[in-house]
Amino acid sequence: MITAQNKTFHIASDNTSYIFRVTSTGHLENLYYGRKLRSSDNLKALYSKRTLPVANAVYYSESDSNLFLETICQEISTPGKGDCRESSIVVDYNNGMETLDFIYFEHKILPGKPRSFSGLPESYGDKNTCTTLIIKLKDTVLPFILTLYYTVFEKTDVIVRKTVFSNNTDQSVTIRNMASSQLDLPSAHWNLVSFDGTWARERNITKRPLEQGITILDSKTGVSSSRHNPCFFLEEKDGLDCYGFNLIYSGNHRELVEVSPFGHTRIMNGINPSTFSWVLPSGDRFQTPEAVMTFTHDGIDKATQQFHSFINNHIIRGKWKHRERPILINNWEATYFDFNENILEEIAENAASLGIELFVLDDGWFGTRNDDTTSLGDWTLNTTKLPSGLDTLSETIHQKGMMFGLWIEPEMISKKSILFNEHPDWAVIIPGREHSTGRNQFILDLTKREVREYLIKTISDLLLYANLDYVKWDMNRIFSDIFSTHSYNLREFNHRYMLGLYEILERITNSFPKVLFEGCAAGGNRFDLGILCYMPQIWTSDNTDVLSRTAIQKGTSTGYPLSTMGCHVSASPNHQTLRRSDLESRFNVAAFGILGYELDLNKLSIQQRKIITNQIVFYKKFRALFQYGLYFNIPCDENHIRWGVTNFDRSKILVLDFQIKTEANPSFDIIKVPFANPDFDYYFRPRAQKVSIRVFGDLINILSPVKINSEGKLSKMLADNYSIPCEEEGYIISGDTLAYAGVKLNSQFRGTGYNNQTRIIGDSGSRLYVIQRVEKENLEKK
Ligand code: DGJ
Repeated sequence: MITAQNKTFHIASDNTSYIFRVTSTGHLENLYYGRKLRSSDNLKALYSKRTLPVANAVYYSESDSNLFLETICQEISTPGKGDCRESSIVVDYNNGMETLDFIYFEHKILPGKPRSFSGLPESYGDKNTCTTLIIKLKDTVLPFILTLYYTVFEKTDVIVRKTVFSNNTDQSVTIRNMASSQLDLPSAHWNLVSFDGTWARERNITKRPLEQGITILDSKTGVSSSRHNPCFFLEEKDGLDCYGFNLIYSGNHRELVEVSPFGHTRIMNGINPSTFSWVLPSGDRFQTPEAVMTFTHDGIDKATQQFHSFINNHIIRGKWKHRERPILINNWEATYFDFNENILEEIAENAASLGIELFVLDDGWFGTRNDDTTSLGDWTLNTTKLPSGLDTLSETIHQKGMMFGLWIEPEMISKKSILFNEHPDWAVIIPGREHSTGRNQFILDLTKREVREYLIKTISDLLLYANLDYVKWDMNRIFSDIFSTHSYNLREFNHRYMLGLYEILERITNSFPKVLFEGCAAGGNRFDLGILCYMPQIWTSDNTDVLSRTAIQKGTSTGYPLSTMGCHVSASPNHQTLRRSDLESRFNVAAFGILGYELDLNKLSIQQRKIITNQIVFYKKFRALFQYGLYFNIPCDENHIRWGVTNFDRSKILVLDFQIKTEANPSFDIIKVPFANPDFDYYFRPRAQKVSIRVFGDLINILSPVKINSEGKLSKMLADNYSIPCEEEGYIISGDTLAYAGVKLNSQFRGTGYNNQTRIIGDSGSRLYVIQRVEKENLEKK
């Protein structure tokens, strides 16, 4: 609900209030964002006080000589009138003049959320789920109009903002910065939680206390990038208040947090001004991407859940919204570029028999592509590898009862390609300057209409010809050497590229509403809300190492729902780290997302086949919970990682207990599940996983009647055919005991013996605990 009384606006969700007012000078002063307030009457106590002047600061006007814009919390900010913090709007008009002063003009409140058709992806909702406030501000001197949009999604406690600038002068002006949103908080006792990294280390969590000064998280790579994700949180240093922020955009972005000398915190996010400006002709308007924010008094886990719910309900759209996502096999790490029809068909046959639902053919099926130096842009079949055609392969896969999916990288072009020979000017290359390239490939100039039309036609034809159910849309390099043969200010290129990409995605996904699209960019280099508006899932990272994945998935899931995260079980040793790990543990971690397998199924041993078959049965049984359950990061010591998911009434709970490294003579593990329903009784047990006999090495001889060389053929043959069940352990436990005291688990292996209750976990080992409610009458029987 949104109310406007006496020029005070109260944007209320189920549990939060966001309040600002129009000051006597017409500025918008933020009064409060936090736990829900009963009403917005009598809020004078929250007005910033102007009882004395501030030294060495600029006062607003002669008539308001105690108003210092630097010291008040504002909804937007401009240069030139005394607020010397970072400005949210900078427009260069009249040959370098930048001073602007926006004051209230008019407003309206609408049920639901109007669509803007701006070419940018947007959140959506109807009158039952959201309400929108539109406020118009005008400059005190020039005919510039600034329109602020606030949409509150009541149930998810999320507010979405955007800003529109209209140039009603008779001259062009240049926008130098235009944040989507600005929030000024009256305090500075916050830790900034961000998601940072690079290729194969995406979205690892960084937490730092704020101090006076500016902290910037951004991307200048051309994509939202793995360097800094647009999602971030502010956590109260000694409390549970938490704000979450994100941006519905996939290009260069900037998140700026500034603590002022007066202990205020300014937070703004939007397009990155360091790689952007926009020439706005007379009579035209510019619209920012949408910014997303949430607040909770219940800590970051709750803010995470609010974002999950918001994304699942108001970002993801189309057929796959709320739908369980298929378990896939991807041939990339099994074959890389080296495959033929027989190999693929054998992998598909094995996949189908294991219960896998979707077969994805990755890179290398087109042009003359046998490595990464050629053929991007030539989306026609490599007939040497696939002489029978993609349509035939697709039919073969469908006959096996699986869906068929294909990898493409439409935004790119290789120099060695027919497309490049025909259209060298479609590649983003500066004439006369040596190009700094990435992965031997060039970016296609999506700012050109003819390039967009070519891609839409080519990809649409491919989807029809190959009868695709799924597309993996990859994008493997970052931007350099920006240039276009189209004439516009090149500082507009990055944003124009994004608008071009969004047009392509909008038209293709609308034409193929049944197809499941998965975003990908050298792993997780473009994991953002913009992409999720078109593609309901994204490949989280090329790094499938079990330990690395715990950090990558933990960070990613703090901002994004598990139903958006592609997570694959791959081979051991891992191809990114060479670390060896247990197949069961790789599954336990990958299950907290959209499960897939990316290893050579044609080489599995009998044991591995049995293990994977059981994993898939288990995942299918609990898939709704893994993909759409309420997600928790469970507090634990530094040697463990614990995640939990549960259903709405908490009658079913799954908990991952992951151990980073084995200790000799280890301490005794206790698992608490703080979110268990205290009124329920539960049965607690580990998923029935297997332990390879190879973990025992030479010690196998203590149990074996015949002498076995642990490095020899017999040992391998035994391990391929036989494994032992994990420990027997199961308890009936009340929800309050589980939540407050926890379960004291059986001892881990400690070098003093072994029996069927011994927990063999190891380095990067894990268990998945299944905790299900038991009705009173069944308690006895357990
Ligand atoms: C990068 C992706 O992240 C990988 O999964 C794979 O599709 C390769 N590209 C193929 O070139």
